[in-house]
Amino acid sequence: MNYPVTRMRRLRANENIRRMVRETSLSVNDLIYPLFCCPGEKVKNEINSMPGNYQMSPDMIVEECKEVKDLGIPAIILFGIPEQKDPFGSDSYSEDGIIQTTLRAIKESVTDLIVITDICMCEYTDHGHCGIIKNKDVDNDETLKYLARQALSHVSCGADMVAPSDMMDGRVGAIRDILDENNYTNTPIMAYSAKYASAFYGPFREAAESAPQFGDRKSYQMDTANVNEAIREIELDIIEGADIVMVKPALAYLDVIYRAKQEFSMPLAAYNVSGEFSLIQAAAKMGWIDKERIMLEVLHSIKRAGADIILTYFAKDVANLINK
Ligand code: PBG
Repeated sequence: MNYPVTRMRRLRANENIRRMVRETSLSVNDLIYPLFCCPGEKVKNEINSMPGNYQMSPDMIVEECKEVKDLGIPAIILFGIPEQKDPFGSDSYSEDGIIQTTLRAIKESVTDLIVITDICMCEYTDHGHCGIIKNKDVDNDETLKYLARQALSHVSCGADMVAPSDMMDGRVGAIRDILDENNYTNTPIMAYSAKYASAFYGPFREAAESAPQFGDRKSYQMDTANVNEAIREIELDIIEGADIVMVKPALAYLDVIYRAKQEFSMPLAAYNVSGEFSLIQAAAKMGWIDKERIMLEVLHSIKRAGADIILTYFAKDVANLINK
């Protein structure tokens, strides 16, 4: 039936009718909030390029976790900024590492909040690469041992889920094996499966102090022009035992999210990364855009493309809006 019998505007007439026919909804259940932990006490340093986000000492992270939980957000993901960096990223698997200390502090006083840890070497190595360097290159198989050790250490200190973001081949299998061997068979892995070598991580590298000191990440993170390769990466992670797969970044890769959701019946996460957040914050600061509306529009687009879960620095803002 065409116009004038059909009139699309009938179902747009008011907010109630629009609510009834809305195809995508955003819920606090979808959100994971990233947090950056650093050594010390009572430290809460705002990250210059990421307003409203902070490097926080474990005690402050605990307070933040309570707030996040009260907002109904089900999960956080932790990134660590260690006291000392070295070529092997040893803080990342040390009993007294920054993540381990923070995990123990959270688990002592906050219940019912899923604590995920990012598994990677770049925040802990002095060269800033995501693995162990041999002959001026990141050595894949050597790195797997370190990633597995890091994951086991996090889980033994209370991490509820681990999220490898390094993009080494075989890391999901290596982590699954070591967790299973140590009776952590019920700990899920959320794999950063299709992670691109993106310029959108710029502000994060300031936040985590993790920029590579030489070269770039293009020999392990994906070429930004590819999508078939993303499907292969996701498939391999599923075969290796990933429980949740991820596409990262989100906004410039909505087609990848869409393809991934069509191809696999897996819970799919998308990371609305630091650069996507900072662009909106900066334009809002200039008075050029309406921050709240743009934030919701962007997050809806990520859900509409097919993501079930969104990692976003806007999580608290969204929860505050939804809960209003
Ligand atoms: C660690 C890691 C990065 C991000 C998440 N985990 C940075 C990178 O790969 O350089 C980026 C997150 C963001 O930009 O918000 N490898």
